[in-house]
Amino acid sequence: MSKQNLKSGLRAREVAVRTLMAVTLKNRPFDVALDEMAGQAGLSPRDRAFVLNLLMLCLRRYGSLKGLLASLMNTGLPKNATWTEAALLTGLAQILLMRTADYAAVNETVTLVKNLEGKEAGFSGLVNAVLRRASREQEKLTQKLNKWPAQDLPKWLFDSWAGSYGKDVAAAIARTLQNTPPLDISLKPDLDAVSWAKQLDAEITPTGTLRRAVGDVTALPGYDEGHWWVQDMAAAIPATLLKDVAGKNILDLCAAPGGKTMQLAAMGAKVTSVDRNKNRLKRLINNLERTKLEAEIINGDAARYVANTPIDHILLDAPCSATGTLRRNPDVIWTKSEDDVKALSGAQARILDHSFKLLPKGGTLVYCVCSLEASETVDQITNFLKRSPAAKRTPIEPHEVGGLVELITEAGDLLCLPSMMADAGGMDGFYAARLTRE
Ligand SMILES: C[S@@+](CC[C@H](N)C(=O)[O-])C[C@H]1O[C@@H](n2cnc3c(N)ncnc32)[C@H](O)[C@@H]1O
Repeated sequence: MSKQNLKSGLRAREVAVRTLMAVTLKNRPFDVALDEMAGQAGLSPRDRAFVLNLLMLCLRRYGSLKGLLASLMNTGLPKNATWTEAALLTGLAQILLMRTADYAAVNETVTLVKNLEGKEAGFSGLVNAVLRRASREQEKLTQKLNKWPAQDLPKWLFDSWAGSYGKDVAAAIARTLQNTPPLDISLKPDLDAVSWAKQLDAEITPTGTLRRAVGDVTALPGYDEGHWWVQDMAAAIPATLLKDVAGKNILDLCAAPGGKTMQLAAMGAKVTSVDRNKNRLKRLINNLERTKLEAEIINGDAARYVANTPIDHILLDAPCSATGTLRRNPDVIWTKSEDDVKALSGAQARILDHSFKLLPKGGTLVYCVCSLEASETVDQITNFLKRSPAAKRTPIEPHEVGGLVELITEAGDLLCLPSMMADAGGMDGFYAARLTRE
């Protein structure tokens, strides 16, 4: 390796260690922390891609990596050796999960620790010993790492899923964190899915989403022309539950960055999109520009929104803990807590109560969240139906979800679990209930 390469490799690994610490120890948002640190270090796009990949693996497997690390050391690290621990975790992830050249993972991680100021530099020998052992025992340790998927989740979250879906399903959901999810694409409905699947080297899922391997999205055919957008298969279902929306006035509440707004507009609806977050609305505007779709955009609070245009139906994609999307956003695992879930279910109830009052008689509201927590999903709707005599649940039919009956609960709601269709790429966790005003 040339000196220049070595330098850039070292810098990339340092950014990975620092970003991992920022997310796991300081609860900093992943994208913000990575952008800041990669920017300061002047990483090339190639090194940034390496760091992103490495960090996704570290965050997905954080619990297992920590468990394995503890088992590799006779006496644990002192509590304040946070830099050394993060460096070791990134080193183990490179050797066991990324299978990068072992010498680079070992040597550069050791150099990073050796160059630290203060006491932690003294741990470079230990880092060397642990990572060399990981290289030697790669197969055995990888198997050990994959053995207890529940370790990759905080206990409160695993227990919550085990309580709702049973221990086996909770473990199966946790196991989905071990794989990189596919790239899911929503194609405009007037385009030919078979021909676009061919061009994009994609499969068509039973619900019509195009699914392919991850890659540079902006370089794929049809991106510049705005023929499609990225949206998980499960996330693409709720908007379709409003059925034929062509020519109808649809209020899309909590709309940014606009996956569902684009879907509704592409189906011919007159969409009004409301979101509280200005920055996220900018992304919605960019998405609409690229896809050449239209919507009226309103920056405001969905819990107080006063409609001055007619409404036929409402899609409410409420703010939630996003525990259904951990396989795509593993940083959330370590930045959300049980208290966040409680606070969010209060906000959801407020928005749901207010928005249902905006519906005309006979109108439909689809409530959805990318959460797997009962208090944000089925309990939220059960409680809402108890306090809202005008609301009736309209069950979802199998033909509306491509015949995938396992996606429909006994009560007739949509419940996508990440463990479903696991052999075919899985899906994000998503819940939706269809409510009609009588
Ligand atoms: C799950 S995301 C929406 C995703 C979006 N529907 C899509 O398909 O791309 C939730 C959104 O709710 C917004 N939000 C949170 N609280 C809100 C409120 N009180 N009023 C309006 N928007 C809110 C957030 O800014 C966030 O963009």
